[in-house]
Amino acid sequence: SEASSDAAGGTLVMATNAEFPPYEYYEGENVVGIDADIAAAVADKLGMELKIEDMAFDSIIPAVTSGKADIGLAGMTVTEDRLENVDFSDTYAHATQVVIVKEDSDIASPDDLEGKKIGVQLGTTGDIYAGDIKDATVERYNKGFEAVQALTQDKIDAVVIDGEPAKVFVKENEGLKMLDEAFTEEDYAIAVAKGNDELLDKINTALGELKDSGELDKIVDKYITA
Ligand code: ARG
Repeated sequence: SEASSDAAGGTLVMATNAEFPPYEYYEGENVVGIDADIAAAVADKLGMELKIEDMAFDSIIPAVTSGKADIGLAGMTVTEDRLENVDFSDTYAHATQVVIVKEDSDIASPDDLEGKKIGVQLGTTGDIYAGDIKDATVERYNKGFEAVQALTQDKIDAVVIDGEPAKVFVKENEGLKMLDEAFTEEDYAIAVAKGNDELLDKINTALGELKDSGELDKIVDKYITA
């Protein structure tokens, strides 16, 4: 459909870290996934062209605050700390942090992580929460799958990471399992620069429409099979 005359036009730059299936990952040269589809749908409603910039996860908030990107959309959890630097849209997904271990591990619940070597993706909530575990050593990797690789190589005892990518990584690597008990519960939202209320309002309106129309569920179902 034609962009209406009051549409913002221009380009919507999305900062992400495309190492996070099923939310954002590469299919050939293209970044695809739930977040990429949500961004495309939001940009469409705003009459804007979407441009995806892939970067390190811990560069996303700086990109948004500096104006290099308009939105941060990366399975990003709303946290009090992040709210000091950016504003968040309404949440669009509920998520968990889970624990991945080797199938023969003696770690049976998150309580058993005490004193263990835990792999995380740098700057994620997994990184933050693993730091709170008593006597644990936290090994930080640039990419979540690098932490998983270290686990398969017995360099670490466990990985703390978001539930959906965890499912993908466990499926793709033999000899791993996900503990039944989640480590934390959290919610994902879209980050925008503080005070950019005009964009935030438009995004929230677009997200609301995607929720009401069932389009958001359709996007999720396309990437997550129950
Ligand atoms: N939900 C976690 C967080 O906000 C991890 C997100 C990682 N996302 C990514 N695209 N690598 O810290």
